[in-house]
Amino acid sequence: MTQVPDAIERMLLDEETIATRVRELAAQISADYANVDDLILIGVLKGSFIFLADLARCLTVPHHVDFIALSSYNRGTISTGAVRLIMDTRASVTDHHVLIVEDIVDTGYTLSYLLRTFRARKPTSLRACALLSKPERREVEVAVDYLGFEIPNVWVVGYGLDYADRFRTLPYIATLKQEMDE
Ligand code: PRP
Repeated sequence: MTQVPDAIERMLLDEETIATRVRELAAQISADYANVDDLILIGVLKGSFIFLADLARCLTVPHHVDFIALSSYNRGTISTGAVRLIMDTRASVTDHHVLIVEDIVDTGYTLSYLLRTFRARKPTSLRACALLSKPERREVEVAVDYLGFEIPNVWVVGYGLDYADRFRTLPYIATLKQEMDE
């Protein structure tokens, strides 16, 4: 039985719902890259680390895992959209199939920056996978090729997602009580 922290308001996606969707996404990705032997999954730290770990282990196609870390200015309620790469991938992505793996697409600035940045490096193909999307928050149009769930505009934690770096390792995705989300 998982202990639910006091700060949690309500469960949005339980473990089984997430696991089922992750398996579906992995099956779709495995089918789409069936004839590819140089797929690189690029996880965007920190939020994607749990989703990426589960997704990668469900894939039936050969793949490498790499990571990047970003820094954004004025992240929070007001986003300027300014994003900076603070840790790059270990391997070159040129002439490789690249799949960016995100936990959530919110305003879209981060994914849009990543697609622009990686496209410039001339990969063989470039797609994006995100577990969650908040369409109401979108400020820039961005294509998500593999999407787990659309969710409403509420602050969510768990399964990699945080509030002030807490709650990332909860096995489910939940909303926070009002007094935390201020
Ligand atoms: C989150 C998430 C995405 C980004 C999405 O990262 O992991 O990278 O925000 O937001 P956007 O669509 O508005 O650009 P965050 O900056 O919270 O860092 P973290 O992953 O380390 O928690």
